[in-house]
Amino acid sequence: MTTYARIVATGSALPARVVTNADLEKVVDTSDEWIRTRTGIRERHVAAEGETTGDLAFRAGQQALKDAGVKASDLDMVVLGTTTPDIIFPATACLIQNRLGANGCMAFDVNAACSGFMYALGIANNFIRTGQVKRALVMGAETLTRMVDWEDRQTCVLFGDGAGAVVLEATDAPGILATCLHADGGYKDLLYNPVGVSVGFKDEKNHGVRINMKGREVFKIAVKTLDALVGETLTAAGMQETDVDWLIPHQANLRIIEATAKRLGISMERVIVTVDKHANTSSGSVPLALDTAVRSGKVRRGQNLLLEAFGGGLTWASAMIRY
Ligand code: COA
Repeated sequence: MTTYARIVATGSALPARVVTNADLEKVVDTSDEWIRTRTGIRERHVAAEGETTGDLAFRAGQQALKDAGVKASDLDMVVLGTTTPDIIFPATACLIQNRLGANGCMAFDVNAACSGFMYALGIANNFIRTGQVKRALVMGAETLTRMVDWEDRQTCVLFGDGAGAVVLEATDAPGILATCLHADGGYKDLLYNPVGVSVGFKDEKNHGVRINMKGREVFKIAVKTLDALVGETLTAAGMQETDVDWLIPHQANLRIIEATAKRLGISMERVIVTVDKHANTSSGSVPLALDTAVRSGKVRRGQNLLLEAFGGGLTWASAMIRY
């Protein structure tokens, strides 16, 4: 009998503070109109001083566990997709594991930039399918605004903070049907933050600790790559475009999302869009969108969900899920 990983429940968390496009007009030479028409973003949440990625992920994870009716002590795995960990080590997943009271099970972070949650989900899925893990808490969370250069209008308008989580459980009935994970380090210079441990903590007037991005190139590669990725995911799951009930894409740019929907031949009514409210929360984006869709009643049990993400690395990853 095949063992599948099924999503039992979801959760999410956002910082309280909302920063609108109008607020950003006061900080950099931009306009609400430019941001909306180029990206679809209207506002984003920004973490308070002292509020960390781990705090947001903890809240999302706690909510998912509560809704799943799963005790933290029953978890075999705690995994967090993030590129903005609280500290360099221990892994933020270990800090969360301890706060939840899941001590003893494996806990680790996955850094695949914006594809972090999708990578974490793919890893957890394979641990469950092989029988090594029965219950996993999989989270994606970021406080990306911490490394945004608020003087750089090309990037500061794009990002926000947030977290999402799912509880996975081993079952006999289909759950996650396929996952596809990819990276091409040849594109490392298109989207990166150069500050690190081994290269040294270079922080020249905060210009080192910042997101560097070649937006136009990233945009083009994202559209092309996601186009191929959704085809690959359908094939891996043995499905057709018409089998997809909901596309739950990475929330970076509405125009990229629309291009992927077009490729799938599905109307925007079947696409979960939260980029207007959350902006790009990197690893937080897909699980945050999923939880929003579940709580709004849009996503229902038995439906087929296509999740995908794209980010620095470059990385790209997807999952086809029977919810
Ligand atoms: N406000 C106003 N004008 C801005 C601006 C802002 N916030 N940011 C850039 N501009 C200007 C540019 O300076 C440029 O001016 P110029 O023509 O006088 O040189 C003009 O707007 C067009 O810039 P361009 O970069 O060509 O715009 P674009 O249509 O490609 O949109 C992005 C820019 C960043 C929105 C778009 O490229 C994008 O979304 N790329 C993908 C980024 C992404 O998703 N990254 C994360 C992946 S996980």
